[in-house]
Amino acid sequence: MAESIHEDLEPLPRGGFRCRLCHVTVANKPSLDDHLRGKKHQRLESLRSVRQDQELRSVFVSGFRKGTPASELNDYFQSYGEVINVVMDKDKGVYAIVELQDTEMLEKVLAQTQHSLGGQKLRVKPREKKDFKYTPPRRQGSAKREQLSPDKLAQELCQANDVDAQMSLLVQLFEFSESERRLRDLLFSLFQEVFLEFFPESAILPFGSSVNGFDVSGCDLDLFLDLEKTKTFQASAKTPTETPAEDGASPELDARSEDSILSDIDLASATVPEVLELVATVLRKCVPGVHHVQVVANARRPVVKFCHKESSLRGDISIDNKLALRNTRFLQLCTEADERVRPLVYTVRHWAKQQALAGNPFGGGPLLNNYALTLLVLFFLQTRSPPVLPTVARLKELSEGEEQTVVDGWDCSFPKDSARLEPSSNTENLCALLAEFFHVFGDCDFAGQVISLREGQLLPTSSVLTSETGIRLKLGPFNLQDPFELSHNVAANVNEKTALRFRRCCQVAAKYCRSLQYQRKSSKGKIWGLVRLFQPGTAEAEVLAATGFVLNFPLPLPAQSRELLGQAEDFHQQQFQKACAGIAFVLQDVLKCSCLEAREEQQAVTECKQGEEQTEGRAEQPSAGGKRPLDEEEAGSSSPSCKRPRTETVSPEGQSMTWNCAVWHKVWLGRRRVRRQLRGPQPDPQHSAGSLELEAKVSAAISQQEGEARPEEPLLQFALRARVGASASSERETPLSLRFDPDPPQAAAFQEFFHFLQGFLPRAVEQRLASEA
Ligand code: UTP
Repeated sequence: MAESIHEDLEPLPRGGFRCRLCHVTVANKPSLDDHLRGKKHQRLESLRSVRQDQELRSVFVSGFRKGTPASELNDYFQSYGEVINVVMDKDKGVYAIVELQDTEMLEKVLAQTQHSLGGQKLRVKPREKKDFKYTPPRRQGSAKREQLSPDKLAQELCQANDVDAQMSLLVQLFEFSESERRLRDLLFSLFQEVFLEFFPESAILPFGSSVNGFDVSGCDLDLFLDLEKTKTFQASAKTPTETPAEDGASPELDARSEDSILSDIDLASATVPEVLELVATVLRKCVPGVHHVQVVANARRPVVKFCHKESSLRGDISIDNKLALRNTRFLQLCTEADERVRPLVYTVRHWAKQQALAGNPFGGGPLLNNYALTLLVLFFLQTRSPPVLPTVARLKELSEGEEQTVVDGWDCSFPKDSARLEPSSNTENLCALLAEFFHVFGDCDFAGQVISLREGQLLPTSSVLTSETGIRLKLGPFNLQDPFELSHNVAANVNEKTALRFRRCCQVAAKYCRSLQYQRKSSKGKIWGLVRLFQPGTAEAEVLAATGFVLNFPLPLPAQSRELLGQAEDFHQQQFQKACAGIAFVLQDVLKCSCLEAREEQQAVTECKQGEEQTEGRAEQPSAGGKRPLDEEEAGSSSPSCKRPRTETVSPEGQSMTWNCAVWHKVWLGRRRVRRQLRGPQPDPQHSAGSLELEAKVSAAISQQEGEARPEEPLLQFALRARVGASASSERETPLSLRFDPDPPQAAAFQEFFHFLQGFLPRAVEQRLASEA
């Protein structure tokens, strides 16, 4: 009894305990004693002994025809004695647990070498002994926490008092809820139960984010199926058993092996893909609620992927990944060593996900994986002065006196207990550490050096490739050495583009972290601290803003003009003027933006004169589109003489035209729906899809939906500069280059509008010119 109580308890840091039997956590020893004396614990203990007794009297039966009713099995086993219960595997209908009246009856059943039902040979074997797992009453459906919307997350974070509090809050919002933890425990026991039946003495062990201290609601379920003991079991069952007492193989074991799925395979000689196929078969046929099972044999670590229907969790089972168990324990140890580790890792992971730098949602891909990102944070903490975490080499020293651990030939020794680590004397707060993280990696040469957690240093690439070490690390644009498997570059999948983006995004983030907006809570209710870092694409948008949002497109020559080609020397020049008029028309009349031509006074006067001369004889052209201030409210403020575009005649290249623009409504959102509504069930042929007239109505309708009146402040403001592109060589088209410069704080929001314009503007301008022609 004392023994089983001991096995149920897990000591927690700071004197707490977790009772694994009841899934209860208590703060201290007196509370633990209360719990152990309490009703719940007592009830579960007695339930456990009842279940264990049932288990000893039950057999596991398979091989019958799918859909066989429980009553038929009941009738069949009745001939040996009383059948207490038959539990069918309802989901797949391929196995059943038959509870018999007592162990004597069980022995009789097992002594029978052949069982058959409805012409099918039955496989009958004793139940595998397994740990009792309490199934707490649970609400139906997924135990996943309701997805936290970005707006809700931003709101919650903005309410915290400082960046440190924001980071701690982030952990609370993302980590598993108690019900999700329970659901995962249940899934582990379900897998364990089924696999034990098919692979005697196997063990299912979780690794990765479910257990490494960086759990995020809904994250993958990484499982390792340990078949070592099953192999030994199979080998011993196959050994001729002249002297069972000597080799330990009993006739019972022999029968278990022959009757199980294992009779189809020799684990010792089977290849990894063969064993994975077998695991996949067990998953498909025998684990309730599992679907989308797929073997991925060509990965570095081959796995079987699956999805669990009820919880919608996705998972992987590997059979050859003991190192992952060890590095998972290492990550846990780091979280126990210093309480700043978790908030920092959660923050960096979320930032990287939002900036599309990490995650590889469907596996593979050129982004950093979460393991790599976590190692980066740990490395950073090793290199602070004084260090927050010890290097892996130091951890090995600290483990002296304990049993050393070598996995696949790699030394993976570190102390079992975090109490053996020296507490860090580093006192930096989370806010400063995050800023420094970005600063350090914004400056890092990822391709030219190797990040070594073992040494806690950046090493020259040559030093890890020397023949003395015998280590062959695959070098690439991002070199991050696994702390234990020293020949593994954890970021080997990262391509040059991602490595460069990672660095640039770190630089942008580091710059932001120097601002007051990062460091101090806004008293005016504006976003501050982590919130801005987490805006999707912010970092990229700022990089874009620095280099400019540029849209290049060729303007094809309308058919009629082609005939005139060669007659007009300034052909491209005229085309450019028309294009500018078209751009301004689309922005103002079609998209309902404000658009005011911007020019320097002196230059403007000259250019206006030139413009007047050059457009003489074409005065009837209605305002030449963009050549006048296009917003009614702003029209009065601009001199009428300055309403023509610049037309520098030297060469078409270098001509330019600039407008200051404002967007008042989100006219880029929901256009398709509004377009459908406006066209009605029988579209008016005049309103053909995408006609500019219809598009103008769509923008007007969206603006009206958002409110009749124009808001006081525009949503977005930007300068737009159009010029003839550098390669104006083709006679058949004029290359246009448009550069958008949003107000810097609006760069991220502008990105959405820009993406819309990339598709919309070239087509609309072309249509406008075609209709004018
Ligand atoms: P992930 O990158 O999936 O990390 O690797 P994670 O912490 O589980 O995050 P999620 O699942 O994306 O939320 C899973 C585990 O696989 C092992 C590590 O143990 C890691 O925790 N792993 C991963 C390696 O051992 N080496 C690798 O190169 C990658």
